[in-house]
Amino acid sequence: MNVIVLCFLVLLQVVMPCVGQTFENVTKLYDDLFSSYRNNITPLNNQSEPFEITLAFYLLSINSFREVEETLVLTGGLAIVWKDTSLSWNPVEYGNINSLDVDSKDVWLPWFYLQNNAKKFEPVGFDSAFRVNINSSGFVNYSPGSILEAKCQTDISKFPFDTQPCLLEFLAWGGGATFYKLISFFEEVNLDFYTKDSNWEVVTRKTYAQIEPEGYYKFHMSLSLKRKPMYYIIMIVLPTMLLSFLNPLVFLLPVESGERISLSMTILLSYAIFLTLVSASIPASSNPMCFLLIVMIIIMLISGLTKNKTKGRYSYGL
Ligand SMILES: *[C@@H]1O[C@H](CO)[C@@H](O)[C@H](O)[C@H]1NC(C)=O
Ligand SMILES: *[C@@H]1O[C@H](CO)[C@@H](O)[C@H](O)[C@H]1NC(C)=O
Ligand SMILES: *[C@@H]1O[C@H](CO)[C@@H](O)[C@H](O)[C@H]1NC(C)=O
Repeated sequence: MNVIVLCFLVLLQVVMPCVGQTFENVTKLYDDLFSSYRNNITPLNNQSEPFEITLAFYLLSINSFREVEETLVLTGGLAIVWKDTSLSWNPVEYGNINSLDVDSKDVWLPWFYLQNNAKKFEPVGFDSAFRVNINSSGFVNYSPGSILEAKCQTDISKFPFDTQPCLLEFLAWGGGATFYKLISFFEEVNLDFYTKDSNWEVVTRKTYAQIEPEGYYKFHMSLSLKRKPMYYIIMIVLPTMLLSFLNPLVFLLPVESGERISLSMTILLSYAIFLTLVSASIPASSNPMCFLLIVMIIIMLISGLTKNKTKGRYSYGL
């Protein structure tokens, strides 16, 4: 028994210094890298060579789409990779450490702004803490995420069968933008961490970086979202059709019965009430107007006309 404990202790003595050494290695590496590093100077060695930054967009969820304010609210993250030559090391000198995680405040970061922002104009992930990963060749991987509110023009004319396109444009606003050469890592928005939405379906999701006529690069993310229409079909489209079928049935009643006025009045009134109920869920935008709303107004108009017509006949019958 004692022999086993002794063996264990000996083993522990052998193992412990190893763990300690690895930690020492990391600490030494950190000290060597950052003792003279300045995190507010762009790591640009040669001004005439483009500074390449690779970007990708991860969509996590679609939070809401506000038709009236024309804004799309989503949670997403950028994955940004660039090379910082002063942050490379030889892994053999540090016990084969290939990568190092540090606080993003320690290193220089490129700041990307959402250009068509509808909320706060600040770099993506500016107010949250993220860690960066550096590998021994000096590549820094920074993945800031945020809840983004983007301004997108909406077209609700086909509501509830509409598809809304939205383009999110990211750029390094201000200093530095002209040196950067942006590269899109994927051709599509990454959905690995996406939580499905019950109101919207993602139809297209492209990402690309392109040079603008002004001479700097922009990273684009083009989304188009298709509305899931079932709720609106049951709540709005079906009752509208039903009431519009009821309207001409007024003429089936004999002229003498006198029930025509009361039936057409009832249809008109129920329609007016239905319209006030429904208008709350139809997006109130007039550019362009919702087709469904126009149909409903026309049906109401026809309903009013048939009422007049029956009244005329009725008085004539008298
Ligand atoms: C900077 O880059 C240009 C173009 O690649 C090259 O011709 C020049 O020699 C470089 N200068 C230095 C100091 O490395
Ligand atoms: C780093 O770790 C290795 C063993 O993995 C050790 O030989 C070396 O001395 C360590 N270096 C430092 C600076 O601690
Ligand atoms: C560091 O990361 C870059 C970009 O992801 C990759 O191309 C390179 O091979 C990596 N280097 C090492 C030593 O892992």
